[in-house]
Amino acid sequence: MHSHRIAVIPGDGIGVEVCGATRAVLDAVGRRHAIALTYDEFDWSCARYLAEGAMMPANGLDLIRHHDAIFLGAVGGPGVPDHVSLWGLLIPIRRGFQQFVNLRPIRGLDGRQAIDLVVVRENVEGEYSEIGGRLYQGTPAEMAVQESVFTRPGVTRIVDYALDLAERRGGRLTSATKSNGIIHTMPFWDEIVAERVAERPAVTLRSEHIDALCAKLVLDPAQFDVIVASNLFGDILSDLAAAVAGSIGLAPAANIDPTHAYPSMFEPVHGSAPDIAGRGIANPVGAIWTATMMLDHLGHPEASANLMAAIESVFTTTDVRTPDLGGKAGTEDMTRAIIEAL
Ligand code: NAI
Ligand code: MG
Repeated sequence: MHSHRIAVIPGDGIGVEVCGATRAVLDAVGRRHAIALTYDEFDWSCARYLAEGAMMPANGLDLIRHHDAIFLGAVGGPGVPDHVSLWGLLIPIRRGFQQFVNLRPIRGLDGRQAIDLVVVRENVEGEYSEIGGRLYQGTPAEMAVQESVFTRPGVTRIVDYALDLAERRGGRLTSATKSNGIIHTMPFWDEIVAERVAERPAVTLRSEHIDALCAKLVLDPAQFDVIVASNLFGDILSDLAAAVAGSIGLAPAANIDPTHAYPSMFEPVHGSAPDIAGRGIANPVGAIWTATMMLDHLGHPEASANLMAAIESVFTTTDVRTPDLGGKAGTEDMTRAIIEAL
């Protein structure tokens, strides 16, 4: 019996609903594969921010530092600006635990779309930086400056991670750039990509400007396999690709520290979806697919593959679909269907 302690942060809105669904599925997987998962739940959320003035306690990272993994639903709520929820919880965890890879596989589960790709997003630097400021607020001369930060070690390690993945998959890597418009950081990105690819004869590189890449991803997603991108470009591309694949409610994500020095964090791509929260209709598949990535990371590839096959079989052999996919099933119906398929 393998045992793992998971820190669970359900968050706000449908984050809470999809976390409950995922735990039920993981319990079923655990019974089949002799994996004992224990959960410590943390109420870190916008609700906590409104009650106590902070998304998480000041020593929050210390409370989850020794867990084997972190599973997060989604955070974000009315009354709390989105930058507060992001910078008060997600970004401190991603950066504090050096989760420099944001991995987002995208596949058309119901076979309507020929799409099977992975976005490898840089997760701790780039465009999402605290460097900059605002001046002359409230005057006609008001201004804002926001700097991007690209470092050689930061770009190198994300490109190397993407190259490893491309070698294990089809040997095709696409790099998202914008070196025609962004003339310092993006040529630097391109140079490092070219240097690293030169050492990998088994991988062919294609470099695409982000705007053209978005258009091609919509028109013909089957062209792409592994896509490596900076923090901002990867964020946008993965939501776009998830929508092309059917629904953002299907999309999984992992924030990974490949060195295993710190716990990695697993969270579906979607947010707290205030427009449908509390109605029991959230699609839990993104969160449950995310759990397959967590099982992989914890060293259980068979359990992970078994769960993924169960998810796939619900799409190929049943018509259970949540409303975001045009169906009438609720969160619980979909969860039960996946457990039955297991
Ligand atoms: P969102 O992902 O919450 O919702 C976008 C649209 O997709 C909505 O119409 C929603 O109903 C639908 N949707 C999302 N997930 C779904 C699911 N599992 N099943 C069915 N439909 C689903 O993004 P939005 O509206 O931009 O943000 C809402 C809040 O969530 C904001 O406060 C935002 O900051 C936060 N957010 C948090 C994230 C996180 O915790 N990682 C990521 C993205 C947004
Ligand atoms: Mg996003």
